Amino acid sequence: MKTLNIIGAGRLGKTLGRLWQEAGLFRAQSIYNRNLDSAIAAVEFIGAGQASCTIESMADADYWLISCIDSEIAAAAERLADKLAQREGIIAFHCSGALSSQVLEVLRPASIASAHPVHSFAEPLRSLSTLSGSSVALEGDSFAIAALDSAFRAIGCETLTIESQRKSLYHAGSVIASNYLTALMDLSLRSFAAAGIDRHSALKLLEPIVLQTAQNNMTLGPEKSLTGPIARGDLETVATQAESLASVDSQLAHHYRQLGLACVELARRGQLSDESAARLIELLSEPMR
Ligand SMILES: NC(=O)c1ccc[n+]([C@@H]2O[C@H](COP(=O)([O-])OP(=O)(O)OC[C@H]3O[C@@H](n4cnc5c(N)ncnc54)[C@H](OP(=O)(O)O)[C@@H]3O)[C@@H](O)[C@H]2O)c1
Repeated sequence: MKTLNIIGAGRLGKTLGRLWQEAGLFRAQSIYNRNLDSAIAAVEFIGAGQASCTIESMADADYWLISCIDSEIAAAAERLADKLAQREGIIAFHCSGALSSQVLEVLRPASIASAHPVHSFAEPLRSLSTLSGSSVALEGDSFAIAALDSAFRAIGCETLTIESQRKSLYHAGSVIASNYLTALMDLSLRSFAAAGIDRHSALKLLEPIVLQTAQNNMTLGPEKSLTGPIARGDLETVATQAESLASVDSQLAHHYRQLGLACVELARRGQLSDESAARLIELLSEPMR
């Protein structure tokens, strides 16, 4: 069985370590965290391996997962470089969505990659049963990609490969869909609050429509899911809403206009006429009064 070392066994690292250990794919070997107690806790969670006090004292391994926080990955790779120097056939990877495999260049001749699971590891115990079915974006050397493709598939994940130069575009796509959706929810709640609807009632009111909209987008795609005043070219309603929002919260009105322009772009790919689109763009682009 191939061996796996982990530098930074936190929520993601210990979850993957345990899943691979239980799948009989990798034997967890040395685990290093800055804090020895947290490394010991990770070893207990994984159910195998030994906590190391330093990177230098870690055993040799076939696979090296650097899953410390993003800002520490480059420094951890620097410290590991001497240990891996001149050793062929080793695979070193990290799981950051924001960074490409280039941050591991110092580890060559090891084969390097990044493997970003599109999953939230907020609760590792829960992730043990929910990670399966998630997608993992792989990027880097072909040897490492092929090996990690098998490793993630062995624990039930789907994989896709992306080009190194386009990794930040890929990551922006996930950020827009998850983080920006959260920001949109906040804008919606602020608008309901201005209408005198408390947060609890607003969330209750929103739940079915938000979930239904998400479902429509998944099955029909955004073009066919867009409904409402902009899709209908209802200029009067859009103007009234923009003015109402401006009268209570200029920032909220600004976001309404900006996102409205994105809706017009989308609606043009559907039924919205060029004439209605042009009038909506003019209205939504107007400087704030
Ligand atoms: N969490 C997610 O949902 C998720 C999803 C996809 C990708 N990722 C990626 O997965 C990686 C890990 O994220 P995470 O959420 O698992 O982080 P985390 O829970 O904060 O775990 C990070 C671990 O790294 C250790 N650590 C920090 N600095 C270190 C260093 N210099 N050397 C060695 N160990 C160090 C920490 O322990 P000590 O403090 O004891 O050192 C901790 O155990 C990141 O690259 C992140 O972008 C996370």
